[in-house]
Amino acid sequence: MSIVRPDDIDRLLDGAAADPEQNLPYWAELWPSGIALAASIARAPDLVRNARCLELGCGLGVTAAAALRAGADLLATDYAPEALALCRHNCLVNAGRAPRTLHVNWRRPTRLRTAAGQGFPVVLAADVLYERRDVEPLLALVDWLVAPGGLLWLAEPGRPPAAAFLEAATERGWRGAFEEVAGPWPDPNDREVIVRVHRLRRGASRSRPGPLQSSVD
Ligand SMILES: C[S@@+](CC[C@H](N)C(=O)[O-])C[C@H]1O[C@@H](n2cnc3c(N)ncnc32)[C@H](O)[C@@H]1O
Repeated sequence: MSIVRPDDIDRLLDGAAADPEQNLPYWAELWPSGIALAASIARAPDLVRNARCLELGCGLGVTAAAALRAGADLLATDYAPEALALCRHNCLVNAGRAPRTLHVNWRRPTRLRTAAGQGFPVVLAADVLYERRDVEPLLALVDWLVAPGGLLWLAEPGRPPAAAFLEAATERGWRGAFEEVAGPWPDPNDREVIVRVHRLRRGASRSRPGPLQSSVD
């Protein structure tokens, strides 16, 4: 794939200083998890073909492009509007079409909950669990976003918040398996990174949770 990305990270970092959430511009990097999830989708395209899919934290769109190539009906979401624009561009270049996009903050999930409707059969997420403060919001959110019996296809490179999320998700009844991917990755600094790609199923009979308390965008 050919992925366009910003070349002036310092300017993005300067801009991030004013961000009310103190989010750093991680969207501007190409992460091993996004590449691993894209490869996993390419190996199992039937899981997304013609399926309503949502991606959390799409970044530059490497996973989104793989999902579109496989025939997904994709809604790509991110906190950074610049990420959504580059995701659309990179998908057009690499998959011949762009996903629908939605600007969201998963810590204030009203928009995501509205978009979920009855839930998505497939939710994609690559390297979204790197801050402890996101574990609880994302746990609550996936219960909303993933339809009963649906799939959370999650790639993570072993950060502690991901381990906390996975432990809590198991307690909540999510079940699944994972594969380990050891690269190669485009950035030589990532050579030691091992990504786990999890396919987690939400129990078919579980009812959806009640209203979330932090529901104001
Ligand atoms: C480490 S990057 C991963 C990007 C992409 N999935 C990949 O693997 O290349 C994390 C992504 O999550 C997005 N993100 C971080 N916090 C968010 C929030 N509160 N709401 C929505 N998206 C968020 C970032 O903007 C970024 O695109």
